[in-house]
This record gives sequence, structure tokens and C-alpha cells, in this order.
Amino acid sequence: MTATSTAQAPAETQKTTPFEMIGGVEPIRRVVDAFYDLLESDPQYAELRAMHAPDMTPMREALTGFFTGWMGGSREWFTAQGGFCVMTRHSKMPITGKTAKQWSDALRAALVVAKVEPGFAEQMDQILTRLAAGMVRG
Ligand code: HEM
Repeated sequence: MTATSTAQAPAETQKTTPFEMIGGVEPIRRVVDAFYDLLESDPQYAELRAMHAPDMTPMREALTGFFTGWMGGSREWFTAQGGFCVMTRHSKMPITGKTAKQWSDALRAALVVAKVEPGFAEQMDQILTRLAAGMVRG
């Protein structure tokens, strides 16, 4: 008889949503804060920064709420928006290959600053880079 394990998976592998895998809202907030801190401080993201309102405090709340719901946590932010499609929201913005790349680069750097586990960060980076590239107009 082969030794097939019927034991319950350890707690770690029972985590199902990306929200749970990243560790909840605190790490998400760390990523978002690192992202906007970089936009505010690093000239390599100047064009992306210039597209945003002078005060990006509301954006920190918005992106935290977005990621929370998008990754499988509370959908409170989406409900408060009365529904939200990230592609529609960006469809009228003059997003170029350059600003989309700045978004992806800043997000990738923010994942490092926020010390997100590298394997998980890599997956987020791949998905979000593709999403941002899909927002380029023309
Ligand atoms: C492709 C490059 C992108 C550019 C240039 C860009 C730019 C912007 C700008 C200018 C705003 C409005 C900010 C303001 O009112 O001050 C915004 C809002 C927002 N963006 Fe992006 N964005 C990009 C990609 C993304 C991606 C990939 C996501 C999500 C994964 C995202 C999530 C959001 C959210 C949640 C908001 C807030 C929406 C709201 O409050 O109505 N963005 N973005």
C-alpha cells in the first residue's frame, strides 16, 4: 500500500485568496504607501506623478481599497464607489507606453520596499504589468 497522505493541509496552504496570502490590509497599505512615496520623491516617475492630483492622499485610500477588494478581501471600497471597473476608469486617460511603464516600475519597486514575499511579488508584478500595458491608448 502506498503512503498517500490524507492529513489536512497545514494552515499555510489552506489560505485561498491573494488577500490572505499577502497578509491582509496592512501589507497592501505598505505597498500603496511605498508606491505613492516613490511617485512623490523619485523623478523617474515624473510623468506619472504629473498625471495625478497634487494631493495624492485620496489615491492612497483608493488604491488600498481597490487592491483589498480585487485580491479577495472586503469589497467595501467597490460598494462605496457604486461599482468600479479599473479599465473603464482609465479609458479616457492619455496613458502612454512610458507612463504605463512608470506605473509598473513603481509598483515593482514598491513591492520590494514593502517587503512582500518575492515569489508572491513576482506574480503580482506580472499581472499588474499586463493590466497597466492594457491601459495604453493608441
Ligand atoms: C497604466 C498606468 C496608469 C496610469 C498612468 C494611471 C493613472 C491614474 C490617474 C491619473 C488616476 C486619477 C488620479 C487622481 O484623480 O488624482 C488614477 C486613478 C486610479 N487608478 Fe490608475 N493609473 C494606471 C494604472 C493603474 C492600475 C494598473 C491600477 C490597478 C491595478 C490603477 C488603479 C487606480 C485606482 C484604484 C484609481 C482611483 C480611482 C478613483 O478614485 O476613481 N491604476 N490612475
